[in-house]
Amino acid sequence: MGLEMNDKIIRLENIVRIYQIGETQVQALRGITYSVNYSEFLAIMGPSGSGKSTLMSILGLLDRPTSGQYFLEGVDVSKLSRDEMAAIRNRKIGFVFQNFNLLSRTSALENVELPMIYSHISSKEARDRAMAALAAVGLKGWEHHRTNQLSGGQMQRVAIARALVNDPTLILADEPTGNLDSKTGAEIMDIFCRLNQERNITLIMVTHDPVIASYARRRLYLKDGQIVGEEVSQGACDRAPASGG
Ligand SMILES: Nc1ncnc2c1ncn2[C@@H]1O[C@H](COP(=O)(O)OP(=O)(O)OP(=O)(O)O)[C@@H](O)[C@H]1O
Ligand SMILES: [Mg+2]
Repeated sequence: MGLEMNDKIIRLENIVRIYQIGETQVQALRGITYSVNYSEFLAIMGPSGSGKSTLMSILGLLDRPTSGQYFLEGVDVSKLSRDEMAAIRNRKIGFVFQNFNLLSRTSALENVELPMIYSHISSKEARDRAMAALAAVGLKGWEHHRTNQLSGGQMQRVAIARALVNDPTLILADEPTGNLDSKTGAEIMDIFCRLNQERNITLIMVTHDPVIASYARRRLYLKDGQIVGEEVSQGACDRAPASGG
């Protein structure tokens, strides 16, 4: 069908990303064609260097493909200007990283308010929304702690609250449990399960850990910049619905 179909949150058509380093070209992505359903929980796996983070940067509008098309909610975003990309990114996408990416000597609350600085909502509303986002990840009472006084799991919760605060349709998480022990990682996954199930946020997560990947409903495997496999099964989120939400 030639017309854009809006039943998929993401549609990738033959995405290629080539990095040029001096004389050498690195083909990080070699033609990725793939679609993601609304409210999907997708895990992306694959060996180091297979292109996972490159793909996440393109999905997050932090980078542009060398060629190919990316439709986000039916809109071709592959050729937008930087400003247009930033506007869509701020409105629709939340990010969670392995190393949390928080301002360390700043309170949890201020970190979560950060994405709202450039929006035109009042400081009162920004505060209310940040408080609510922190409560949603189980950090009520921790709002005024500096993030460098928090545990790894708590820091990742702050990062998730920050990703949530603009009410995104899509959350991208690159190795969100990579710096956490397995128990804390499972707690973080419970939060992701709830966000996916209760708020219908589409979740795309990169992980090396098969246990973490098993929470997702769908697993996509990359190798050398190409899709080499896909698995669909009931995810751990579906098997054991997160409680306490
Ligand atoms: N900014 C860059 N400049 C040049 N080459 C890059 C850049 N970013 C990534 N690459 C190269 O692109 C390829 C894919 O890298 P990418 O970071 O996407 O892999 P990955 O699957 O995320 O790996 P890991 O599991 O180690 O995080 C690698 O060969 C990498 O060296
Ligand atoms: Mg990576």
